[in-house]
Amino acid sequence: MALKVKVLEQSFGQVQPHGTKFAASFYEKLFDDFPQARSLFANTDMEMQEKKLFRSLSLVILNVRYPGFWKLC
Ligand code: HEM
Repeated sequence: MALKVKVLEQSFGQVQPHGTKFAASFYEKLFDDFPQARSLFANTDMEMQEKKLFRSLSLVILNVRYPGFWKLC
């Protein structure tokens, strides 16, 4: 099945304004479903981690449209 890039970008665009909330809910769900994963983040600044998670997802989405774009940076 072909990846629908535009649909992916549009749906991610809707999440983008709520990036912080989205990232926080990612870890909430992760720790609910896999409590054993919590200890991996025992010394982690979760606020910073949430930012890193969301930024990395943004790069993944950008890379779908412009594969290897970071090589140009
Ligand atoms: C979509 C999925 C995920 C993405 C995009 C992602 C992304 C990242 C990023 C960007 C970092 C920061 C790396 C750095 O500081 O250089 C990180 C760190 C980390 N991730 Fe993930 N991650 C994902 C899923 C997971 C899952 C499912 C786990 C555990 C089960 C996990 C465990 C960790 C741990 C333990 C760290 C190190 C935290 C620290 O520096 O204290 N990640 N991840």
